[in-house]
Amino acid sequence: MVSNGDWLERTQAAVWHPCTQMQHLRDLPPLPIARGEGAWLYDHDGRRYLDAISSWWVNLFGHANPRINAAVIDQLGRIEHVMLAGCTHAPVVELSERLAALSGLGHAFYASDGASATEIALKMSFHYWRNVGRGTKTGFVSLRRSYHGETLGALSVTDVALFKDAYAPLLCHSHQVASPDWRLAEPGESAEAYALRAAAELETWLAAHADATAALIVEPLVQGAAGMAMYHPVWLTRARALCDRYQVHLIADEIAVGFGRTGTLFAFEQAGIRPDFLCLSKGISGGYLPLSCVLTREDIHAAFLDERTARGFLHSHSYTGNPLACRAALAVLDIFAADDVLAANSTKAARFNALLAGLAAHPRVRHFRHTGMIWAFDVAQAPPHFARDFHRRALAQGVLLRPIGDTVYFMPPYVVDDADMALLARTCEALLQS
Ligand SMILES: Cc1ncc(COP(=O)(O)O)c(C=O)c1O
Repeated sequence: MVSNGDWLERTQAAVWHPCTQMQHLRDLPPLPIARGEGAWLYDHDGRRYLDAISSWWVNLFGHANPRINAAVIDQLGRIEHVMLAGCTHAPVVELSERLAALSGLGHAFYASDGASATEIALKMSFHYWRNVGRGTKTGFVSLRRSYHGETLGALSVTDVALFKDAYAPLLCHSHQVASPDWRLAEPGESAEAYALRAAAELETWLAAHADATAALIVEPLVQGAAGMAMYHPVWLTRARALCDRYQVHLIADEIAVGFGRTGTLFAFEQAGIRPDFLCLSKGISGGYLPLSCVLTREDIHAAFLDERTARGFLHSHSYTGNPLACRAALAVLDIFAADDVLAANSTKAARFNALLAGLAAHPRVRHFRHTGMIWAFDVAQAPPHFARDFHRRALAQGVLLRPIGDTVYFMPPYVVDDADMALLARTCEALLQS
C-alpha cells in the first residue's frame, strides 16, 4: 500500500509547488492527499483534515460532491473539450446565459484561472477606450494591499510586496489608493466613516489622472490576500459614482468573493451598484475544474464590433470555455437554486458566530471579523514564522489552515457543520494558549 512517505520524496524532487519556498519543504512537507469527502481531506495514512480554507477558496459544496460529480461524468460521455473559436456547445451557452441573468452583465469571456480573468478585464478596458478614440487611457488604479493574481498584468495592479518586488522591472506602472479596510479607522471612527474618508483619496487621484486612467480594479468587500481585510459597502457605492463622474471603468474582481462568499451571490450587490467588468473564478466550478470568466456591459461589447479584425478582442486560451468546467459550473448554479444556499448560509453563519464567540474573546485575538462565510482575526504577540508554525500545529490537530502573516482566517466549504466549526474554534483557542 502507498503511504504518505512515498509521495513526499517524489513531490519534492519532481514538483515545483506554488507560493512555496521549496527549501522550506524539508521542514514542512506538503500534505499527500489521497481523497476528499465533504469538508474533509484524507491522506494516504488514513488521517483526515478539515479543509477550513476550501482548498485556496475554491471549494463551495465539498469534495467529491455527488451532484457535481454526476454532471461532470455525464459531460465526459458527450464532449470533453472543443475549441471555442469557430465552435460552440451547450454548456458554455447555458452557463453564459445564466451568469448574465444573475449578474446583469453579459458576453461572458472565459479563461482558466483568476489571473487570466484579471488580464482579460484590463485588456478589454484599455482596448474599449482605444476603440472609442481615447487611447491615452492606459493606466490602472487599485487599492493598497490589493491582490489580483500573479501574471505580469495582474501583478502590476497587485500590491503585495512579497509577490511583486522581485518582478518590478517587468511590470507596468499602476497607482494604489487608500484601502477602506476598517482596521485602519481612527479610534471612534465607524467603518462607514472611514470608508468614505478612504474614498476621498480615490477622488483626488481620479480628478487629476482620469484622462490617463482606463479602470479602477477592486476586490469588493473583502481584500483576501491582504489578510481578509473587510470594508463597508459604502466605499464601493462611492467608487461607482466616482468612476461614472470621471469616466473610468470599475472592474469588480470577485474571483475570491463571488458565488455567495460575502452573503450575496456577488459582493457588489451589497453596495447597490453594478461594475463595468466582473471577474469570476475559484468557486465558479465549485472547486472542480479550472475556469474563469469576465462579464461586461452591452455597450462595451458593442464597441468591439467592426469589419476590421483588429478592433475585436482577439485574446484567447486553448481551454477557453471548456465543456467539463462549464458543466461543473452549471451544477454549482443548480445547487444554489435548489438548496437556497444563500439563505441557508445566512442561518449557518449566525450559528457559527455564536460558536466562535469564545475564540473572538480570547485575549490574543484582535479585530475578530466576519463577512458572509469568511471569518478572520489577527493574533497579538505573534512570534516570527507565526503563519508557518500555526499551519503546522493546526495540521497536527487535523485542521488545514494557512494564516496570512498574523491573520488566521476560516473560509470553509459551505457544507461545514456545527461540529466542524466547533473543532475550528477549539483548535485555534488551544493553539493560541501555547
Ligand atoms: C481577488 C483575487 N484575484 C485574483 C486571484 C488570482 O486567481 P488565480 O490564483 O486563479 O490566478 C486571486 C487568487 O487568490 C484572488 O484572490
